[in-house]
Amino acid sequence: MEKKVVIITGAAMGIGKAGVERFGRGGWTVAACDLNEQTLNETVEEMKAKGYDVKPYVLDVADYDACAKVVDDVVATEGRIDALYNNAGILGDRDGILGFDHNKVKEAFDVNVFGALNLIQLVARAMDKLGIQGSIVNTTSINAEVGTWDPIGYIGSKGAMKAITQGAAFHLGAQGIRVNAVSPGATITPMAASVYDCPPAREAVAINHNRHRWIEPEEVANAAFWLAGEESSGVNGIVVAVDDGYATGKGADLLGIFEEWEKEHPAEA
Ligand SMILES: NC(=O)c1ccc[n+]([C@@H]2O[C@H](COP(=O)([O-])OP(=O)(O)OC[C@H]3O[C@@H](n4cnc5c(N)ncnc54)[C@H](O)[C@@H]3O)[C@@H](O)[C@H]2O)c1
Repeated sequence: MEKKVVIITGAAMGIGKAGVERFGRGGWTVAACDLNEQTLNETVEEMKAKGYDVKPYVLDVADYDACAKVVDDVVATEGRIDALYNNAGILGDRDGILGFDHNKVKEAFDVNVFGALNLIQLVARAMDKLGIQGSIVNTTSINAEVGTWDPIGYIGSKGAMKAITQGAAFHLGAQGIRVNAVSPGATITPMAASVYDCPPAREAVAINHNRHRWIEPEEVANAAFWLAGEESSGVNGIVVAVDDGYATGKGADLLGIFEEWEKEHPAEA
């Protein structure tokens, strides 16, 4: 069987780096794309040292022509593309409705939405031409499922990616190209560390997850790997939440409260 090929964006660090490792370990060839050349090269060297087949592509996903060149180069070098993992994303800024900067919101949409759309179109065209029934995995967020404190432009961009995932699955379904998404809860990455830069904020966020903890990048990468491969062959147009139950709602731990009350008030129990 021919070795499968995946394009991963935002591959230098965080969840994308975990993705490179997961696909590498799974025996895929990885075209690792990132804006940050130095960190990308370090990541690729680290993965190659583990024996994985990973190649670096310096890429700003918001640049359509640059995306087209990477897709052409990957097809020329590898002869195929079996999957695209659209993981690159930025926050834009840290502000809500009352304070947001329009340019920062536009930047978030340029990378998170148009960057993903650029590659969905280009990779789907390449797969269609090559006769490959491949898989595309996008990245949304917990904030596309429930209201969160995240920056408002970032929230909007992730809501757009949820709708685009469903629409693209419909558009490409007839060609046998599947489009799904992963929706991470709060995940320990450089992006998260830049926002939640004090322990009380990190603890407050952890409480939203059922086990009061953060998500590991590898947990998201595992879901993306499953969606990209044949084992999810019947799955199309869905968002897989990797959020330890965050989106199921976050009421108080009532069972614990009842138990506590009964211990303290035995007569009333
Ligand atoms: N960390 C979280 O809590 C969390 C939660 C929900 C969703 N997400 C999403 O998961 C994805 C990965 O997030 P992360 O936390 O690992 O982020 P991160 O900032 O730690 O890493 C993102 C990577 O993307 C790269 N990148 C940024 N802009 C790019 C561009 N224009 N072109 C190419 N590469 C670019 C960066 O250089 C970096 O290597 C993002 O789409 C993010 O929105 C993250």
